[in-house]
Amino acid sequence: MKVDVLLGLQWGDEGKGKVVDVLTPKYDVVARFQGGPNAGHTLEFEGQKYVLRSIPSGIFQGNKVNIIGNGVVLDPALFKAEAEALEASGHPLKERLHISKKAHLILPTHRILDAAYEAAKGDAKVGTTGKGIGPTYTDKVSRNGVRVGDILHNFEQKYAAAKARHEEILKGLNYEYDLTELEKTWLEGIEYLKQFHFVDSEHEVNNLLKDGKSVLCEGAQGTMLDIDFGSYPFVTSSNTVCAGACTGLGVAPNRIGEVYGIFKAYCTRVGAGPFPSELFDETGDKMCTLGHEFGSVTGRKRRCGWIDLVALKYSVMINGVTKLIMMKSDVLDTFDIIKACVAYKVDGEEIDYFPYDITDGVEPVYAELPGWKIDMTKMQSEDEFPEEFNAYLTFLEDQLGVEIKIVSVGPDRAQTIERYTEE
Ligand code: GDP
Ligand code: IMO
Ligand code: MG
Repeated sequence: MKVDVLLGLQWGDEGKGKVVDVLTPKYDVVARFQGGPNAGHTLEFEGQKYVLRSIPSGIFQGNKVNIIGNGVVLDPALFKAEAEALEASGHPLKERLHISKKAHLILPTHRILDAAYEAAKGDAKVGTTGKGIGPTYTDKVSRNGVRVGDILHNFEQKYAAAKARHEEILKGLNYEYDLTELEKTWLEGIEYLKQFHFVDSEHEVNNLLKDGKSVLCEGAQGTMLDIDFGSYPFVTSSNTVCAGACTGLGVAPNRIGEVYGIFKAYCTRVGAGPFPSELFDETGDKMCTLGHEFGSVTGRKRRCGWIDLVALKYSVMINGVTKLIMMKSDVLDTFDIIKACVAYKVDGEEIDYFPYDITDGVEPVYAELPGWKIDMTKMQSEDEFPEEFNAYLTFLEDQLGVEIKIVSVGPDRAQTIERYTEE
């Protein structure tokens, strides 16, 4: 069997959680392959809303196996809070959630280091989620990390060594902090974690595939936040692109089947960094209000703008997207005109490819399409789509060279329309 991958094509928060939940019934296994509690994946069904950070979004659909892969970084304290809330709401996890022994642990001092590095950057700060993501991946790459599997072997010693090293760095940065509370809840989290299945997830995933089981990999963040291909240095610290599913789960590249690329009908970004099609006017405010564009983890206001097809084309290329999914089209239901950035003007010259640097002097060039001006939130099938909406879909498909297979018209699981275009 093949592994299908679902990932974000923009700056995160595209609606990955919702669609993973919708697609899960078609799969046996759902697996997260990178990122950590910087993610906030929202799902809504039966009048309830859930926000997942580290736990895969397949957890609500029957008895599917959900895996936290080796590429993920896990904070035991935040994991405990998330898992306990799910258990309390009637969603048992223990038997269904498997955690890779090779996943790295976010230590309390990683969170403090995240804050200290951001403070040291001053105006140039990344605007991280403050969850210790960068420092944890830094330790992984510099071969100083502590892994989930270490909880079972010489844990105290490994934790103490890492903590001491971090304290030295913090002293050098002259950063004041108090570890007491953080460390206490973190150690409680470590104890809590011990009741879960720690697995060699690369073996588990490959054995499942050999047995004919199907796997859906759930990305976190988005391609424009990828450590290699995103708007560096305003990015996260992992490979959010399709290749990350191979390294973050131990699946070979020739095992990848469908690549679902998910995007909003417009565009958002949270945190600092360039965003060429950002709007600073009433139209941007309207998108923010109608789309409830506030971070699901940090509550921060998301910056809003028109869809950026230059960046999206780049994302489609890097990920080898085979199917597109468009989210939040309902947010544009009342707009007279829809704009789409089709090129950048750089030093007076128009380019249609994503350049090395988009920090300064990149001016968006827009195409304009008529809005559909109809409430789409109750639509059930593509037969109901208004003509102008179909024209928008066709325009995007022509630009991106890939078919849009799913359209989302509201946050609820039920507000999802699969298009039955020819395979
Ligand atoms: P993720 O990180 O990619 O899973 O996305 P988030 O959960 O951070 O952000 C997406 C937000 O949009 C959540 O609040 C969802 O409930 C909501 N959402 C998802 N799809 C739709 C949609 O089609 N329309 C509207 N209006 N909201 C949506
Ligand atoms: P989901 O999975 C949107 C952003 C942060 C910051 C940058 C680096 O919900 O789409 P980090 O804490 O990772 O070191 O922050 O990345 N960021 C996200 N933005 N959605 C996310 O996740 C994000 N995870 C990180 O705002 O700009
Ligand atoms: Mg999110």
